[in-house]
Parts: sequence; C-alpha cells; structure tokens
Amino acid sequence: MKRACVIGWPVSHSRSPLIHGYWLRRYGIDGSYELQPVRPEEVATFLRGMRERGFAGCNVTLPHKQAAYAAVDDRRPAARAAAAANTLWYESGRLIGDNSDSAGFMSSLRAGAPALCLAGCAVSVLGAGGGARGVVFALLEAGAGEVRLFNRTRARANAVAACFGPKVRAHDWEGRADRSRDVALLVNTTSLGMKGGEPLDMDVSALAEGCVVTDIVYIPLVTPLLAAARARGLVTVDGLGMLLHQAVPGFEKWFGTRPEVTEELRTLLVRDIEGA
Ligand SMILES: NC(=O)c1ccc[n+]([C@@H]2O[C@H](COP(=O)([O-])OP(=O)(O)OC[C@H]3O[C@@H](n4cnc5c(N)ncnc54)[C@H](OP(=O)(O)O)[C@@H]3O)[C@@H](O)[C@H]2O)c1
Repeated sequence: MKRACVIGWPVSHSRSPLIHGYWLRRYGIDGSYELQPVRPEEVATFLRGMRERGFAGCNVTLPHKQAAYAAVDDRRPAARAAAAANTLWYESGRLIGDNSDSAGFMSSLRAGAPALCLAGCAVSVLGAGGGARGVVFALLEAGAGEVRLFNRTRARANAVAACFGPKVRAHDWEGRADRSRDVALLVNTTSLGMKGGEPLDMDVSALAEGCVVTDIVYIPLVTPLLAAARARGLVTVDGLGMLLHQAVPGFEKWFGTRPEVTEELRTLLVRDIEGA
C-alpha cells in the first residue's frame, strides 16, 4: 500500500486528507493519506526518516514550510522562489521539495477565467507574504508584463520585488486602487477578508471592465472583495480552486495518477467549510 501524509503543528485542521481521500476512493487506489502532527524541533528528523516510516512523500503545512525547504535534498524553482516547500517526494532516493501553490493558483485561474490572457499584461497583487510569493512566481511564469505589489509593510513588498527582478514593482498600500485602474487581474493574497477577521478595504469601482478579480482567501468562499467585484459585473475566481489544484502534483507523484478537480470534490470541500 502506498502512503503519504501531511505534516504540521497543529495539523488537525488540514483539509488535505479530505481531498486526497476523495481521490484515493475515486481512482480505487490502495493507499492512505494521513495526518502527522510533527513538532517544530522534529521536522528535520521526521523528514530524514520518512521513507523508512513507509511514506512516499508528504505535504507540509504551517509552520513547517521553511523548515521543509531547508531539509530537502533538491528544490524545484517554485519552492526556491517562495523559500518554502509544501510538497515533498522521492526521486532516485533524493527528497525533492516543490511549492505547488503557484501551479495551484494558475490552474484555478485558468479554470475560473479561461478568457483571461496574462501575456504582457499588468497585474495588481495585494499582500507580500508567503502566499504572494507563490502567486507572483506563477504570474511571471504565465508571462505577465508587470506585477504591481501593494503591501501594508512596504519593506516586505520591496523584499519580494527584489527577489523577482524588474517586472515586479513594490508600491505603497495607499495607492492600490488608483494604480489598479488598467490591470487585467487583481489578486488578494492578504489575510484580510477572512471569516471573523478584518475586511479588505479595496475600492473596485475604478477597475477596468475586463478586469478579473481573485482572492486566495477561501473562508468565506465569497469574500467581500469578490462580492463587490461580482456586483460590478466582473469575472471572479475564489480561493478554493487554488487549494484543490495545489493538491494535484503531490497526489500524482505519490500515487501515480494525475487526479481531476471535480465538481463533486469541490462540493465536498464547500460542505466542510460551511460546516466549520
Ligand atoms: N487558497 C489557498 O490555497 C491558499 C494558499 C496560501 C494561503 N492562503 C490564504 O492566504 C492568506 C494569506 O496567507 P499567507 O501565508 O500569505 O500569510 P502571511 O505570510 O502571514 O501574509 C499575510 C499578508 O496579509 C497582510 N495583512 C495582514 N493583516 C493586514 C492588515 N490589517 N492590513 C493590511 N494587510 C494585512 C500582511 O501584510 P504585512 O506584511 O504588512 O503584515 C501580509 O501581506 C491566508 O488567508 C491564507 O489562508 C490560501
């Protein structure tokens, strides 16, 4: 039986077992996907012995993504861009680390806004945390001409921009609405808008008519930003698609089948989120 797991501390909140469990059943694979609580001081030791424990690899959730990045033998470009790894597997006995948030973000965007063409276009990204790095990497890979990065803490936006080169420019948080008038895509990667938290203050009235708006926050599914954009008639893409699509590469590496993000899976997750 093939086995994979998700490590975190705590890890009980992770929705990854729900996603991978669905695919294991759907494809009739004799495998398991388990929750593994691992203390921060034990990450390197756990990963060194992961194969001997019978795991083909793992997902990594908070707060271990940087520690996992440091512990692997080889790092894929998306992981290097984020300096964090969330998907680990073995190749020729070496532990490989990737960050599937970038691919997950882009697959979700392509599915939710198929007419959007990013080549040469300007994009606004709100936030400069871990999520933003994955999103910026994906946008540049997709050919975006200019990424405008707005963050409350300007120094953090400067640091992210410096990692990615001249196509990514940091701007003051206060300029986010005014400087987004001509963008093809607006992405919220801040934690603002999460259920029970502070809302995101973003005026969408000046966005261009064809602008697509997406949020990587997925609880609630329709964040206040997405609701405002929809009310203006803009195409929106929610953050749940990114969560589902980022799970695809790991499943394929561990279990040998590229899984599909189906409506049935999405419904399963929506029920889980709404019941939480
Ligand atoms: N859909 C998915 O699969 C997926 C994947 C990854 C993350 N996420 C979600 O994305 C969100 C961000 O995650 P992360 O890992 O990037 O978090 P993070 O590294 O902690 O970054 C948080 C970001 O939010 C900004 N922020 C927080 N409070 C703010 C406020 N009051 N005003 C303005 N900006 C504020 C921070 O700005 P400062 O730098 O100024 O603090 C920073 O840019 C979370 O809700 C997470 O659940 C979703």
